Amino acid sequence: MVKRIFNFSAGPAALPLPVLEKAQNELLSFNGIGMSVMEVSHRSKHFEPILTGAETNLRALLNVPENYKILFLQGGASLQFSMIPLNFLAKNETADYIITGAWGKKAIVEAKKCGNAKTIFSTENEGFRSVPSQEELDFSKDAKYVHYTSNETIEGVEFKYELEAGGIPVVCDASSNILSKPFDIEKYALIYAGAQKNIGPSGVCVVIIRDDLLEKVPEEQHSMLDYRAIAKNDSMLNTPNTWGIYLIKLTTEWLIEKGGVAAMEKINREKAQILYDAIDASDGFYRGHAAKDARSLMNVTFNLPSKDLEKQFAAKAAENRLDGLKGHRSLGGIRASIYNAFPKKGVAALVEFMKDFSQRNG
Ligand SMILES: Cc1ncc(COP(=O)(O)O)c(C=O)c1O
Repeated sequence: MVKRIFNFSAGPAALPLPVLEKAQNELLSFNGIGMSVMEVSHRSKHFEPILTGAETNLRALLNVPENYKILFLQGGASLQFSMIPLNFLAKNETADYIITGAWGKKAIVEAKKCGNAKTIFSTENEGFRSVPSQEELDFSKDAKYVHYTSNETIEGVEFKYELEAGGIPVVCDASSNILSKPFDIEKYALIYAGAQKNIGPSGVCVVIIRDDLLEKVPEEQHSMLDYRAIAKNDSMLNTPNTWGIYLIKLTTEWLIEKGGVAAMEKINREKAQILYDAIDASDGFYRGHAAKDARSLMNVTFNLPSKDLEKQFAAKAAENRLDGLKGHRSLGGIRASIYNAFPKKGVAALVEFMKDFSQRNG
């Protein structure tokens, strides 16, 4: 029996064990065809049900309405930072950006290369610890879209509501909390997520886009950047990441079996609560990074009394089979990423370790 550890990595992140086992079982011969999924043509009768299965499952899990397309792209969520403005923001046009962390900040850098990308709210001055309330947001009248990040993976800061922008198309980077709870897709014109946290492996980015946006793609758009052309070709304008899409199909099957996103939300709340309670009960030894009302259910970020202790904490934890806890290189501290596939018993193991570590070093 292979020994597995508790993997708190922010992404690529832990995948459900039954998904890995199924992929292992089918690795050499998918469905008895004598070939691996990695070896069959994306246009073959073998791959077609994988692609449609992944799409159907996502549509069911997220309750995606008929007038939205689900696309499987490459280039990660980062390519969306460019593709969105390249398609929907011309030179003399305005788009609004809400910046609550490092990923939103990266997104606007690309948008500024296309047009007037405006920061309408930023929490950078206070170290990206909170999110604005809906009432605090003042959108530009002529905004072509408003972009926000529903969960900032590095800082562990999450919106607890879904943004409304009074008719301005809402675009959302949901890379690190999609499928962790129900989303009302109708609130979005476009919602996207790199797969490597809650959807599957890295190398695929899922984009859910409303049909009317497809009509706004500029005529002369480069094909590989053209949402309309990609949608028309069922995400197969070129060779897609077939293996990644196969794992998405398996992961979404697992999610459906587990009861879907509402069931996931319940478990995710329980897991996060256990960890935040441990932080709050530590007499200040552990200090949460995010403001309490913006604490992420997916990425729990905290600090210890010194950088040296943080280094020791991450190293000792790894020795105890609790891996991937070192905070992002840009922020430091500790980050425990506890996506859908991360088991509750791993959270309990971390809390035990935290108690022991604070007793020895407090
Ligand atoms: C919220 C968010 N957006 C964007 C990205 C970038 O994703 P990718 O590496 O797939 O380009 C990440 C990666 O962790 C992320 O967490």
